[in-house]
Amino acid sequence: MRIFVLGAEGQVARSLREAATAESDLVVGCGRRPEVDLLNAASVESALEAFRPDVVINPAAYTAVDRAESEPEAAFAINRDGARAVATAAANAGAPIIHLSTDYVFDGRKDSAYVETDAVAPQGIYGRSKLEGELAVMAANADHIIARTSWIYAPFGNNFVRTMLRLAGERDRVRVVNDQLGCPTYAPDIAVALLAMARRIANAEDRARYSGVVHLAGPDAMTWCDFARAIFSGAASRGGKAVPVDPISTAEYPTPAARPANSRLSTAKLASVFDIHLPPMQRSLADCLDRLMQSERGPS
Ligand SMILES: NC(=O)c1ccc[n+]([C@@H]2O[C@H](COP(=O)([O-])OP(=O)(O)OC[C@H]3O[C@@H](n4cnc5c(N)ncnc54)[C@H](OP(=O)(O)O)[C@@H]3O)[C@@H](O)[C@H]2O)c1
Repeated sequence: MRIFVLGAEGQVARSLREAATAESDLVVGCGRRPEVDLLNAASVESALEAFRPDVVINPAAYTAVDRAESEPEAAFAINRDGARAVATAAANAGAPIIHLSTDYVFDGRKDSAYVETDAVAPQGIYGRSKLEGELAVMAANADHIIARTSWIYAPFGNNFVRTMLRLAGERDRVRVVNDQLGCPTYAPDIAVALLAMARRIANAEDRARYSGVVHLAGPDAMTWCDFARAIFSGAASRGGKAVPVDPISTAEYPTPAARPANSRLSTAKLASVFDIHLPPMQRSLADCLDRLMQSERGPS
């Protein structure tokens, strides 16, 4: 099976490349800037025409949540118009598209986990641009899976785990928000799930069975503060530095973009339609910390 991935070095794109090496029948092509740019629809179109994919996976996005507030044009150009360009090119190639989206399409007022049919109401530019991207993808390609994920971390890229480990090296204690609830999701777990989804939709006699929105998130909900404590506990057990975590409120840590107080995602549909179950956070975080601390120590 031939899979084309937009982006190459993002957390999910890089994890997809790694996961695909374990599946010998997969041929994975990557579209990276500047050759393949979501801002240039023709570059996307010709990359897909040349590669002839069975499935297209699009994790590429404008992901700077706070910067988006001052750069709305850039966010919409990539997350809405770029997403539309990828979905259109996939449709022209006769391929289904799996498009990554976000928990930030919700306003966070619900007091339990969000399901796919819940009303969306993004609070910031990033969330709005991703929501418009979802709608553009749905309109451009009937064979689409919109996979909403959340709180991504990986042994590489910009993420909360790496930020906490860096801060532990610089400070004696850290202050972390304790009133936002979400589901940390490990990029390598997302990648394995996306490859399984790609096989399902590519091989389905009835692709409509798999088309639509699905939540693809880790099974454990927590606050950023809880997550920081889990990270430091895991780091300490591997000989790394742990620092005390002081819980603070969102109001004490103002950011340009508002974030949902609750963005827990229910994965009941992921389980029932795709039979996919992501591993518990403790196992995925352990893998992430093993890889990070191994790379810090260097090859043995
Ligand atoms: N990170 C999270 O916590 C989070 C949470 C929920 C949902 N999501 C969604 O999940 C997906 C994957 O996130 P991630 O964390 O893997 O993102 P990431 O690490 O920030 O990577 C984003 C990738 O998009 C590429 N990109 C940006 N603009 C592009 C353009 N104009 N043309 C081509 N490529 C472009 C970047 O390429 P360069 O390497 O060239 O910059 C980068 O490789 C995104 O759709 C994101 O919205 C993320």
